[in-house]
Amino acid sequence: MNHKRLFIPGPVETRPENLLALATPQVGHRSKEFQELYADVNKKLMKFLHTEQYVFLSTSSSSGVMEGGMRNLVNKKVLATTCGAFSERWYKMGLENGKEADQLAVEWGKAVKPEMIDEKLKTGEYDSVAVVFNETSTGVMNPVKEIAEVVKKYPDVLLMVDAVSAMAGVDIDFDGWGLDLCLAGLQKCFGLPAGLAVFAVSEKALKRAEQVENRGFYFDFLSFKKYHDKNMTASTPAIPHIFALNAQMTDILAEGSARFDRHARMAKLVQDWANKHFEVFAEEGYASNTVTCIKNTRNISVADLNGELAKHQCTISNGYGDLKEKTFRIAHMADTQEWEIRGLLSLIDSILGH
Ligand SMILES: Cc1ncc(COP(=O)(O)O)c(C=O)c1O
Repeated sequence: MNHKRLFIPGPVETRPENLLALATPQVGHRSKEFQELYADVNKKLMKFLHTEQYVFLSTSSSSGVMEGGMRNLVNKKVLATTCGAFSERWYKMGLENGKEADQLAVEWGKAVKPEMIDEKLKTGEYDSVAVVFNETSTGVMNPVKEIAEVVKKYPDVLLMVDAVSAMAGVDIDFDGWGLDLCLAGLQKCFGLPAGLAVFAVSEKALKRAEQVENRGFYFDFLSFKKYHDKNMTASTPAIPHIFALNAQMTDILAEGSARFDRHARMAKLVQDWANKHFEVFAEEGYASNTVTCIKNTRNISVADLNGELAKHQCTISNGYGDLKEKTFRIAHMADTQEWEIRGLLSLIDSILGH
């Protein structure tokens, strides 16, 4: 096997037990067995995201649900906050779905701060705000809890959170923080293959959707709700992924808060290593717990480094877009353990002659 162990920010390694769960014999998606499976996984996800509102499953990648957020929750104008390549998609999706949208952009590597959003919301122009929890292109983790505090001051404004590379790596208190949409795909901190997205939605958000026209068909949140009430999905879902997610959620809940502590410790290991040999790209105090973006201060060839790592069945990520070769990224998410990160860093040390 020449499988390379993935230290990239998604897809990540899937444990063999979960790969086997994907191979569970199929059930019909309108069967009682499916309804039981749906109810079981839903209960676990609600507990995990600390919500008594709604958690839906979408057979799509996360981008589909982001587009759904724009289609369902924006009536007046959305404030799309951007701090890197993925958050910029929020803004593009708003415009390309015919919504009025303003961009609140901060420099790549910096975090979006609550007071910046407060300043914009004071104008009364917006009915929704979009943020990325963890900007995968820059390794910045935005202060979503504090941002939510600010948004709460404006009861007519909904908060949409792209938690694609954060959910299951950091604790998210959906109800406690007062989020309205929070989404992620399985291929990052959940440690499962790509193909299914999980998203929590508030009552308030569904009320908004009722007033919005042209929500589309596939990502109509009210349609998700209608089938959810019967423990089903509106269209044929990725049933193998739901079996695997159900198995993985049992393990994630059993690991409890230790999961988030493990992510924090792995992040610290990589950040300390990065600051010793290079520099962390993220603004101080906002470096991500799930992926570290490292400034290539020594002008190494990241492509060559990855070529050498490949000989040892490992791979990391080059920088994203314009940051290619100027940065590189090491993911420390999902079921990855500290010993694996230590091993990877020692391997890089031996390749670079540290
Ligand atoms: C923060 C963030 N948002 C959105 C996406 C898009 O996810 P997908 O390609 O699964 O739709 C990604 C993908 O890496 C991401 O990291």
